[in-house]
Amino acid sequence: MTKVLVATDKPFAKVAVDGIREIIEDAGFTLSLLEKYTDVNDFYNAVKDADALIVRSDKVTKQVVDNAEKLKIVVRAGAGYDNLDLDALSQKNIVAMNTPGQNSNAVAELAIGMMIFMARSAFNPQTGTELLGKRLGLQAYGHVGALVAQKAKALGMEVYAFDPFVSKEDMEKQGVKAVSSVEELYKTCNYVSIHIPANEKTKKSINYNLISLLPKGGCIINTARKEVINEEDLLKCLKEREDIKYCSDIAADNQNELNEFFPRVFSTPKKMGAQTQEANINAGLAAARQIVDFIKNGVTKFKVN
Ligand code: 3PG
Repeated sequence: MTKVLVATDKPFAKVAVDGIREIIEDAGFTLSLLEKYTDVNDFYNAVKDADALIVRSDKVTKQVVDNAEKLKIVVRAGAGYDNLDLDALSQKNIVAMNTPGQNSNAVAELAIGMMIFMARSAFNPQTGTELLGKRLGLQAYGHVGALVAQKAKALGMEVYAFDPFVSKEDMEKQGVKAVSSVEELYKTCNYVSIHIPANEKTKKSINYNLISLLPKGGCIINTARKEVINEEDLLKCLKEREDIKYCSDIAADNQNELNEFFPRVFSTPKKMGAQTQEANINAGLAAARQIVDFIKNGVTKFKVN
């Protein structure tokens, strides 16, 4: 019997798990759940006889792959797949997929919420500022960036974006001003919302030179990955300039030091951008469907390796 393992340190909402189960069982497969595991050995054991695997930000390392004796497909229920060891998976001919766009709205809403939170001094009664008329810069204009743009425009913000993979015309059609460099974005905007993936090119790329370009009171919103920030440089900038702000959905490695700058700095206690019922249902069910389509019909849409 084909076994599908859902291994989620941060579990999906129950309604999403129920939906995943229905799709898997309707296909004649069995579902096995490993949630909130504290010991990675539990993951190694559970994956041993799994034919398919669904994860969120759970790390699918070489050790996980080495323990998987029957695995044919891994679906990262979400956008970023920097948690998958693609080389290890490819070496064993295991297909890796993501579910692009499925949880984007949840992340976009959180980015907007974070801007309001920072503008209103971390929900303190002291005098804050408004988003109306402020300039928002989107660092990448993919699924999440485009949704943040739409919502920010409804709030009366002026929206700019830098994305070398999206044409100026496409952005402008949606009322977004394309800038020609990431430096221009940081120099121009009161808020910069980060939506780039973490990869060899982007890791630590948001550094002293870039952060220093922010105008007075500039604020960075990071619902992407902590790895794209040069945390030491961020700390240096916060010490040098009392006006700049940083709000993140992924605690930095030096978060304790950063927390001393509250309310100019804030991080959620655990990554929660995609943690809504709707996003869990969209991404979780998409992952289950992609597995069934792959195992039954060989469909490899959304393959990333
Ligand atoms: C993603 O890449 O899809 C988001 O970062 C969500 O990650 P999560 O599934 O761990 O919440």
